[in-house]
Amino acid sequence: ESTTELDISAIEPGQAIKAVFRKQPVFVRNLTPEEIEAANAVDISTLRDPETLDERTREGHHNLLVTMGVCTHLGCVPLGAGEGENKGEYGGYFCPCHGSSYDTAARIRKGPAPSNLVVPDYEFTSDTTILIG
Ligand code: FES
Repeated sequence: ESTTELDISAIEPGQAIKAVFRKQPVFVRNLTPEEIEAANAVDISTLRDPETLDERTREGHHNLLVTMGVCTHLGCVPLGAGEGENKGEYGGYFCPCHGSSYDTAARIRKGPAPSNLVVPDYEFTSDTTILIG
């Protein structure tokens, strides 16, 4: 199976789901307006891996953040996609293995990970469906 199709219609703002793509976890998060604002407020020249939220999401769907759920340090699965999980001090994802914190655009902000959570290739096949891969 080289692609994964996901129904995203049930993901409420502030929630994320975990799925599987090519045997690896993938996170799909519906950002709240506050989370989008927080991501856009960051001066990207201060980032280890400078990218804007717009660059990491799709036109017309900048609230939908699709990333691999694989820490770019040594490959642990970060927390933050599940109900009540620790999102870390930047409000996105937190990798408990060695303490990497990702922000609401899943960009690395603190800890040993060298780069942002990877955005896989994907496209919207309808307003409520994405095809990853
Ligand atoms: Fe995530 Fe080391 S594997 S911080």
